Amino acid sequence: MKAALFDLDGVIVDTAKYHYEAWASIAQTLGYTLSAEKNEALKGVSRDQSLMRILDWSGATVNEETFQSLLKKKNRHYLSLVASLGPKDALPGVLSFLETLQYKTISIGLGSASKNARLILERLKIMSFFDAIVDGNDVKQGKPHPEVFLKGAKALGVSPHNCVVFEDSQAGIDAAVSAKMTAIAIGSPEVLSNATKYIPSFTSHPYAKLAEYFQE
Ligand code: BG6
Ligand code: MG
Repeated sequence: MKAALFDLDGVIVDTAKYHYEAWASIAQTLGYTLSAEKNEALKGVSRDQSLMRILDWSGATVNEETFQSLLKKKNRHYLSLVASLGPKDALPGVLSFLETLQYKTISIGLGSASKNARLILERLKIMSFFDAIVDGNDVKQGKPHPEVFLKGAKALGVSPHNCVVFEDSQAGIDAAVSAKMTAIAIGSPEVLSNATKYIPSFTSHPYAKLAEYFQE
């Protein structure tokens, strides 16, 4: 039996830009300008690890209380940016990809670092496609550690080597590879490495073009 494990932000929905916007604004308050290039290293990374990286890059140090309040501030800003998300916001091709997987009785799981994952899936009204959801609330170790995907595979009852992971972040691809799963990158090999295949989107690559990865 084969399974598909999806990352959320930047794969199912274009929320990666909102995480970036919210982090860039936090960085600015620390006197640091967060470039799009640096932001690549935050994709797939948990909320507190992301802040640790920004603090490291900015050279700023903060006490625990400020650290926690910056995390809250970032999340409040992020939640305000996703407040109006709805079913129309799933990235092009995602819905028909999920429908085809379901029709083919291929198990579907979510493996996301975000603690807001369930909320976003509900807003998009695609929760019912997922046979298992593992998110930032369920793991001790964030990507690139494989925990999130290994837990997803276990919940689906599928062995890791039968799982196909869809990821837009380097941390997530590395997590999939270290879980011994097939990693399909949504993005270009100029930005991402280590994946089995690179696709620009699910519109250019509907299920039919990726069917070989789901063959028994
Ligand atoms: C990942 C995003 O999916 O979730 C990261 O790629 C984000 O940018 C991380 O920091 C944690 O998200 P949240 O919603 O728990 O702050
Ligand atoms: Mg992502």
